[in-house]
Amino acid sequence: MKVIITENYDEMSKKAAEIMIDIVKKNPNAVLGLATGSSPIGMYQNMAKDCKENGTSYKNVSTVNLDEYVGLTADHDQSYAYFMRTNLFDHIDIDQKNTNLPCGSAPDAQKECDRYNALLETKKQDVQVLGLGSNGHIGFNEPGTAFDSVTHLVDLTENTIKDNSRLFNSINEVPRQALSMGIKNIMQAKSILMVVSGKNKAEAVKGMVKGEITPDLPASVLQLHPFVTIICDKDAASLL
Ligand code: F6R
Repeated sequence: MKVIITENYDEMSKKAAEIMIDIVKKNPNAVLGLATGSSPIGMYQNMAKDCKENGTSYKNVSTVNLDEYVGLTADHDQSYAYFMRTNLFDHIDIDQKNTNLPCGSAPDAQKECDRYNALLETKKQDVQVLGLGSNGHIGFNEPGTAFDSVTHLVDLTENTIKDNSRLFNSINEVPRQALSMGIKNIMQAKSILMVVSGKNKAEAVKGMVKGEITPDLPASVLQLHPFVTIICDKDAASLL
């Protein structure tokens, strides 16, 4: 595990974008595993800026996202599909038909999970971007999720619902369920790039890097992956 500690969120975002851009330049057909949430927004902004200014092309890149809320259609402004379009896809030259997320409004959740798992068999991530939940979750794999899990329907914990409520008008609007890649799907990536920012993540960062490898802290599984880079600002790294 390589841990890079930065002064602040902006420096974290720049460094993370440099890694992503380098992967795309070396492999124009790369499969990028992507995440939503506050942590990667700055990284996506830097990637968009580089695409515009330096012409790094995503024409032949494809993407697979970690997760999506159940019950939200792709045009709902809190859906992760909408997040990806507005924060990245609309600002780079990617072909939208090469972008993939689980479909949160699919009528049969299990069928949709099966479809996504089959897709991930054919699209192994060259890099998987991750954020970190304050309870140690990755994707929406909450504490207790088996390390051999694949894409599944998740009941979100009260902790995660509370964390995510800042983006909704009220906590009652936060979906209670999500479809999420499992830990096995995440671990199949050739490399993993995590971005973490803020004091509220410090405990989880400490457990992930130095603690026991246990499903109680899902991110601790990353200790078993050979190519993990964690970029965290100094607040997130404050307990290391
Ligand atoms: C998002 C995701 C989540 C977030 C995590 C951190 O696709 O899978 O695991 O990465 O909840 O969220 P932020 O970055 O908003 O603190």
